[in-house]
Amino acid sequence: MRIYDIILKKRNAEELTDEEIKFFVRESLEGSIKDYQITALLMAICFNGMTERETATLTMEMAKSGDMVDLSGIDGYTVDKHSTGGVGDKTTLIVTPIVASLGGKVAKMSGRGLGHTGGTVDKLESIEGFRTSLSSEDFLNQVNKIGLCVVGQSGDLAPADKKFYALRNDTATVDSIPLIASSIMSKKLAAGSKGIVLDVKTGSGAFMKSVEESEALAKAMVGIGKAAGRDTVAVITNMDIPLGNAVGNSLEVIEAVETLKGNGCEDLTAVCIELAADMLTLVTGKDKEKCIEMAKGAIADGSALNKLKEMVREQGGDPEWISDTSLFPKAEYNYEIKAETDGYIGYMDAEKIGIASLMLGAGRNTKEDELDFSAGIILKAKTGDGISKGDTVAVLYSDDESKFASAVQKFNDAMSFSDFPIKKQPLIYSVIR
Ligand code: URA
Repeated sequence: MRIYDIILKKRNAEELTDEEIKFFVRESLEGSIKDYQITALLMAICFNGMTERETATLTMEMAKSGDMVDLSGIDGYTVDKHSTGGVGDKTTLIVTPIVASLGGKVAKMSGRGLGHTGGTVDKLESIEGFRTSLSSEDFLNQVNKIGLCVVGQSGDLAPADKKFYALRNDTATVDSIPLIASSIMSKKLAAGSKGIVLDVKTGSGAFMKSVEESEALAKAMVGIGKAAGRDTVAVITNMDIPLGNAVGNSLEVIEAVETLKGNGCEDLTAVCIELAADMLTLVTGKDKEKCIEMAKGAIADGSALNKLKEMVREQGGDPEWISDTSLFPKAEYNYEIKAETDGYIGYMDAEKIGIASLMLGAGRNTKEDELDFSAGIILKAKTGDGISKGDTVAVLYSDDESKFASAVQKFNDAMSFSDFPIKKQPLIYSVIR
């Protein structure tokens, strides 16, 4: 078999065999296929796509290129969630304790933030002492003990994806549905859970800017999950506007805790109940309505909040910080953005707000950047809200006063005002099973 022939075949829009795809993944990692040949094939895939079978085979081979986490030692139904990334997306901190408090076994590996999107691991590390790196034995023991453990990615998960993704980033081959779907799902399959709920974001702060693209990606990922024998559901949710009111690590943990106490804002609570209910349909086999009721009940009776406290205690943090969020350190400086006219918030670009938060110290431009955990933004008004001149639209926080000038400029650039009421956008567009 020759990589030249495989590239030529895909360049001519022909379908690759399973053997050809396996050869490509294996030999790319072995080094006999050169980076320029890998990128030539990735570019041909960008132009000519892949069938469902080709995409499923590529994903499985990428998953099997490294460690496949074995969760068979966990007693019960293992369920994972994944978000395609967004601004203010703290759903993992809310959804996973809800599901674990109702019997789901959540053994979750999460990522760090990069660019305008945040990462769950960074948010959790804003709780002093919280350990996001555990041995696999401790990871499994904790899930068996309390039903929930969230750690950073460890081991050698899907190294083929790592190699391809780095090349895709440098060669304008990221935005291809089969390549994105196989990249995300290879890591999810390797992470081992039986059930997978995918939160596919759509809008200005998301990877996929249109609902149509997001649905196509969701369908591709659900197809891969099914082909691999995993119960997979995808939900298309709005990321045109940041989710919730807080953007930034400890600010988001505090908002997550408030949501688990029943004081969450409407959009964040609704998306979390949807995702938790989808996970619970897989765990319990009960219908969606019943699962929604169960998820709401776990917030109302405090069991989900207690589950988060248990996880914090088990992983080395002080659960008192969850009971009393005033214990989180506060940023030294803040700056209030005021409305300059009466009217409505006409538009709020989620990506730009994510970048403004990054500029305040809450995010990273490169993997090596240090975070300011208390930096970020609290939104006091969002798209569609009525405002009067002088109202506070947002408060920006940072420990470094010199960061405000550029962050304020970026925030103002993200906002536009309207004299007329704005139609609210849907929060949840569709659910794909
Ligand atoms: N996230 C991933 O993990 N992979 C992609 O290809 C795009 C987003």
